[in-house]
Amino acid sequence: MQAITKTMIEEAAAFIRRTTDVRPEIGLILGSGLGVLGDELEDAVTIPYEDIPHFPVSTVEGHAGELLIGKLQGCNVMLMRGRFHMYEGYEPERTALPVRVMKALGVQKLLVTNAAGGINLDFAAGNLMLISDHINLTGKNPLIGPNDNALGVRFPDMSEAYSRRLRGIAQETAKELGFELKEGVYVGLLGPNYETPAEIRMLRTLGADAVGMSTVSEVIVARHSGIEVLGISCISNAAAGILDQPLSHEEVMETTERVKEQFLSLVLSVLPKM
Ligand code: HPA
Repeated sequence: MQAITKTMIEEAAAFIRRTTDVRPEIGLILGSGLGVLGDELEDAVTIPYEDIPHFPVSTVEGHAGELLIGKLQGCNVMLMRGRFHMYEGYEPERTALPVRVMKALGVQKLLVTNAAGGINLDFAAGNLMLISDHINLTGKNPLIGPNDNALGVRFPDMSEAYSRRLRGIAQETAKELGFELKEGVYVGLLGPNYETPAEIRMLRTLGADAVGMSTVSEVIVARHSGIEVLGISCISNAAAGILDQPLSHEEVMETTERVKEQFLSLVLSVLPKM
């Protein structure tokens, strides 16, 4: 598949610019079952991914596959309802193309969300977890290949991948809203199968608190682009082997549906403070 070029990024950005006068400052990527936030946008322009030059289309149930641009809590936002995963067959750089396009459109801050399995035994399905850091165990990297210095440096720093400033705001906001926001390390795997119990025990030993199949390539590209990142996981299930029951996408969708009010109130309150 063709590598992502600056021209492709510019063509996608130019197409989006023609659809709206809103110039987004904050990007949002919504994970499985968390797309409801898109319904809150004012004066929203909705663009199906298939209309945007060079965008892949998302193939996962629960991921709508559309980009929304509009106002949310007084902020100009660009929101992705549905994202691209490497397990769908996309190259890592392509899963993160929307982040490149966000940057081209002027986005400076990114809120990434996902559904994740809880590895930490103190977590329960339905908890929200602030991502303090991540471990990229996908074996892939969206920055592989020649580096375009106009987009970012060859060896980007990842020592504060998830902004300490934004994490502070999120924790403070959760406290104001009166609920506990867990905090921990997200490990990104390639998928698409859920992990084995042995893999979960290994991941716990490695220092991971939650596991999922997305996010890491987007955050690597965001940091490469100089975008400040906030990450929130919805713990949709106990990871494999913790409870004596099988895992399913239905359970993931049921849990995200159950916690959507709390998720919405957190994100809506955090946004204007970002
Ligand atoms: N593992 C990996 N990805 C996931 C999980 C899980 O348990 N739950 C939701 N996404």
